[in-house]
Amino acid sequence: MANTKPSTVLLKLALIAMALASASAASASTTHLRFYMHDTVTASAENPATVVQVTRGTTPLPGAPTTRFGDMYVIDDPLTERPSASSPAVGRAQGFYLFSAQHELAVMHCLNIVFTAGENNGSYIVVQARDAILDKVRELPVVGGAGRFRGATGYGLLRTHSFNSSTNNAVLLIDMHLSVELGT
Ligand SMILES: *[C@@H]1O[C@H](CO)[C@@H](O)[C@H](O)[C@H]1NC(C)=O
Ligand SMILES: *[C@@H]1O[C@H](CO)[C@@H](O)[C@H](O)[C@H]1NC(C)=O
Repeated sequence: MANTKPSTVLLKLALIAMALASASAASASTTHLRFYMHDTVTASAENPATVVQVTRGTTPLPGAPTTRFGDMYVIDDPLTERPSASSPAVGRAQGFYLFSAQHELAVMHCLNIVFTAGENNGSYIVVQARDAILDKVRELPVVGGAGRFRGATGYGLLRTHSFNSSTNNAVLLIDMHLSVELGT
């Protein structure tokens, strides 16, 4: 007899938890955003640099003698709809990346993805991620957001679209998969 009551309570709690889980799933919207990020380390006549190195590390990294563990870059990179820098603007990636691995080419990203066009203008999402830059696909955890993206969860997939090893300029493809609670 003494055992039946707690198990009934547990069953009820489980049912309530299931109801809450399905209610919250129903009130979240999911969004897929695709855009290109232009990381211009070396300026040219057409394009000013969008990256500034703010610290210089000590230990050269394997296969990249001019890149060092501890190098840190502040960025304000334009985001566009297509690979061409002159395609319509989507926003800016603002923050920093830091070469944070001693024995491989991996950076830590701390970025605000700030949207400047359309209905997302002024809203942003916050990304903190590890990026092993030679990997084909890297995952960008979304740790939050503001405006239309308040409380956003999700992830991005980052791919190198093009890279120029003489300038270190890169165009990166980002696919963001976001889930946003409605009515917050
Ligand atoms: C985005 O919002 C800013 C500030 O409200 C405004 O100045 C700008 O014109 C808007 N841009 C677009 C493309 O709507
Ligand atoms: C890399 O950049 C240099 C300097 O701007 C340029 O001369 C060269 O053509 C570029 N390489 C590629 C593959 O785009």
